[in-house]
Amino acid sequence: MVNRSEPGDHIFHRARKDHWPRISHGRGCYLFDMEGRAYLDACAGVHVVGIGHGVEEIADAMAEQARKVAFAYGQFITRPQIDLARKIAGMAPEGMGRVFFVSGGSEATEAAMKIARKYHIETGNPSKYQVVSCWQSWHGNTIGALSMSGRSAWRKDYTPYLLDFPHISQHSADELERVIRQVGAEYISAFIVEPVLGTSSAGLTPPDDYFSTVRDICDRYGILLIVDEVVTGYGRTGVNFGIDHWGVVPDLMATGKGLSSGYTPIAATIARDEIYEAIYESAPAFVHGHTYGGNPLSCATALAVQEYVESHGLIRRCAEMGEVILEQLQSLTDLSIVRAVRGRGLLCGVEFAADKERGAPFDPSLGVTGRVVQEAFERGVLIMPGAPGPLDGVNGDHVAISPPYTVTEDEVGRIARVLREAVEAVERTL
Ligand SMILES: Cc1ncc(COP(=O)(O)O)c(C=O)c1O
Repeated sequence: MVNRSEPGDHIFHRARKDHWPRISHGRGCYLFDMEGRAYLDACAGVHVVGIGHGVEEIADAMAEQARKVAFAYGQFITRPQIDLARKIAGMAPEGMGRVFFVSGGSEATEAAMKIARKYHIETGNPSKYQVVSCWQSWHGNTIGALSMSGRSAWRKDYTPYLLDFPHISQHSADELERVIRQVGAEYISAFIVEPVLGTSSAGLTPPDDYFSTVRDICDRYGILLIVDEVVTGYGRTGVNFGIDHWGVVPDLMATGKGLSSGYTPIAATIARDEIYEAIYESAPAFVHGHTYGGNPLSCATALAVQEYVESHGLIRRCAEMGEVILEQLQSLTDLSIVRAVRGRGLLCGVEFAADKERGAPFDPSLGVTGRVVQEAFERGVLIMPGAPGPLDGVNGDHVAISPPYTVTEDEVGRIARVLREAVEAVERTL
């Protein structure tokens, strides 16, 4: 059967579906479809939209830059690129002062992988190339990023293309050290990890001593620490970057999503000054880059977004509303299938289980995650399905809630109410 949802639809869709609602516009925390139906966007698209939809100031900044110059390449840099890099360096942990612009999160993690490799080549360790990551972690869909990712369900079809990189259990510093010894530190270039999990298990957070231990292990074995801040960066967890909760300085950070709040495709890899200096000490160039990396229109847009975040105190607001939403969502744990609720700032997750005391998962064929998301959708609230198989690559059901930082208390109340109704509706069918 050809998957053409409607006559005249030539889109190569990401899934088979009979009808795709068409969005006409957005305002604040709401999206509106062509029939005028409103959806409360409780997942900010895919943890992207921090400042809300349809902000006039951003549209104005985009138009102004487009009139000046939208694209310049190669031999040039531009004012928006310089200003945005300065702004990002000012938000990043101390000493992380070099910003490499790309167009999306996968490009950002893959650039981090290549920067790490280049650093080792230039500092006399050319045998280092493998990147260790965690099972079920997510770092993106391009082949390098997918090789680093541990999301079994999304790797499967492409296994023959993937690089042979080691994976360890989530949040196990012991296993990191063990795998380094087993493989040999001379082959390991970097360890990549999300500070607070996004779609793999939204809101799941490592223990307090995790990052200082990991930093120490990386330093002892000459391995770079890459923190994937694509979801958590630019305020999503109530601080500038997720790693700020642990006060640890990584070597590289991959960022995206919240950088432009969805107003334009842009992402950035942020490097410690010493990494940058070590590379350019001897190398004439870092041979990597994409056509749209650092284009002035995207940079001006992201700069306007970050200035808006700052002038409206939205990161502080995100932290405050994060506490409100977590408290409201915690009340769902009285439901028979809700096993856990967790979160940092406005990045929250709700986990379901067939037997919540023992943590026994549902049979994946029941499709519990998708059904909860659908029930909420029918009630006009958009929540995000968690990635399949958080427990072992196959089992586990969960959803993510991550509204814009501008979400109001009333909207938070509605999200929690609708989620309760949605879960209850699914419970009745199990
Ligand atoms: C933690 C994390 N890293 C990287 C990516 C890849 O980003 P993109 O989809 O923009 O390529 C994602 C996307 O969801 C992500 O959640």
